[in-house]
Amino acid sequence: MCGIYGYIGKEKALFHVFDGLKRLEYRGYDSSGIAYVDKNGKIKIIKSIGEVENLKNKINFCEKSNLAIGHTRWATHGKPDIKNCHPHFSEHFALVHNGIIENYKDLKSQLNYKFYSETDTEVIAKLLEENYKKLINNSNKEISILNIIKNSLDKLKGSFAVALIYKNNPQNIYVFKKNSPLVIAKNNQESFISSDINAINNCFEYYSLSDMDIAEIGENYIKIYDENLNLINKKKIKKKALNYLTSKKYSHNMLKEINEIPIALEHIYKEFQTKNFFNISKKIKEYKNITIVGCGTAYHAGLYGKYILEKYLNKKIYSELSSEFKYKNIIINKNDLVIGISQSGETADTISALERAKSKGASVLVITNTPNSTMTRLADYLIICNTGPEFGVAATKSYVSQIYTLYGLACLSINKKINNSVINSSKKLLKEIDKFEFCKFYNKEKFFFIGRLFDSVTAFEGALKLKEISYVHSEGYCAGELKHGTLSLIDEKSLVIAIITQDSIKEKTINAIHEVKARGAEVLVITQFKDFKQLDNIIELPLIEEDILSVLSIIPLQLFAFNFSLMKGLNPDKPRNLAKSVTVE
Ligand code: G6P
Repeated sequence: MCGIYGYIGKEKALFHVFDGLKRLEYRGYDSSGIAYVDKNGKIKIIKSIGEVENLKNKINFCEKSNLAIGHTRWATHGKPDIKNCHPHFSEHFALVHNGIIENYKDLKSQLNYKFYSETDTEVIAKLLEENYKKLINNSNKEISILNIIKNSLDKLKGSFAVALIYKNNPQNIYVFKKNSPLVIAKNNQESFISSDINAINNCFEYYSLSDMDIAEIGENYIKIYDENLNLINKKKIKKKALNYLTSKKYSHNMLKEINEIPIALEHIYKEFQTKNFFNISKKIKEYKNITIVGCGTAYHAGLYGKYILEKYLNKKIYSELSSEFKYKNIIINKNDLVIGISQSGETADTISALERAKSKGASVLVITNTPNSTMTRLADYLIICNTGPEFGVAATKSYVSQIYTLYGLACLSINKKINNSVINSSKKLLKEIDKFEFCKFYNKEKFFFIGRLFDSVTAFEGALKLKEISYVHSEGYCAGELKHGTLSLIDEKSLVIAIITQDSIKEKTINAIHEVKARGAEVLVITQFKDFKQLDNIIELPLIEEDILSVLSIIPLQLFAFNFSLMKGLNPDKPRNLAKSVTVE
């Protein structure tokens, strides 16, 4: 969580860092700030509450500065106000931090300083200060900033990427990290740092820091040291170009991304033709057990994966939340495969789950939309969905892409032809839904999404979309479960959205519809079947193979959530309290 961006080079550091923070805003947007070095070599700090745009009014873009570090925050410790907003500082240091310092309370009680904020981050600034003082008292030689950092780093527990400016040497940026991504890049006479490689453009060289590395960055050089302060020769990494799928203008990223679903599917279909994809689809059959892990929407994609792989491979597949998998007693070994699904490739819980799987000897397949991400480096097998960047916090095209990828894997593993009519059908559906009047449900207060098997996954995901961007209470249920408790909540204020795409269990979900209608609920059915003509509210899906209809059935629900959010006067792209990439556990 949180975005870090830094620049050292020519005069326009404030401009570069502001610009970089705008690109990183998807990582958090409740406050932001910049520390920079002014023309007299003094460190100055600017902070603002709310979106990065608010910082603009506080920056004098004409002010010359050749070095700045910035931060866009998603609050973990302390509410989003000016005192908690980064950069944090002590007498000699100003810094920005992404992650969580787990032992910050212990450190705080050990450090004899007055703290002005509630953050864990301020502890790092004070710890550096303490180590500065210790070193200065014990040595009459010039003290090394690297030693100060190392001594501090050794005391920190948790996950962190930190960038700092040191008052005694304001010509450099220093960075260090553990369990949180940080990339350094270089051009002629200028260097950049960022918590996301994709936020940096047009550089010649890119380096990804390893855990416990410390780097000193100047406008002309990057020096990277290992944890024993030995200078290391870091290998450059390649930045893969991202496809920006449509250039057409939309009012919101979320709407743009939903409309990019057909092109995203086309890209994945191309991926299905690659040797890499073919080999992976054959390989997965060799594993004894397969577990799929993910968080949020990616977890739902994993649930779909469980159903489709179980059906085609005819063996038990497990689907787990990364945040549970990493702590429970997992029975897993070298004969097993763990599939990690993640749009960003940076979700901390999924990274830990995959690391845990690897430590038990299991192989790891990563399915992600983000080349160069941390998860790609953990992968024994890698599938890049290549659906182009997704900025709306609510995952839409990435979910659909993950499902299609899992379907493709399942098909190829049993030599079944992959259905590609879904691509054209998605275009058709998008056009059709445009006419649907979602506004007729806006007076409802409770929302229940129901379905069975594949459709239950769509129900979970539909409910998640609605609650995350509209702040209304919504629940997704396996239709058969409704009568075991939730039915007591159903009344005239309820809208029940039933997803019915599986012929064999269609009648069962129809029973559930009767039950909720009898209790006064209004019902909206999402289906390809013609049996529901007598109902008032139907969204008809194109007639394609049932197993892949989950790719389509979610689209009306994504648009429902989008429209509901707009109707409430909210910004669907930036829901409160959430962030696109959750890099804290
Ligand atoms: C956050 C986002 C969700 C996303 C989840 C997993 O909670 O708000 O939209 O589904 O993280 O993210 P990942 O990048 O791992 O798919």
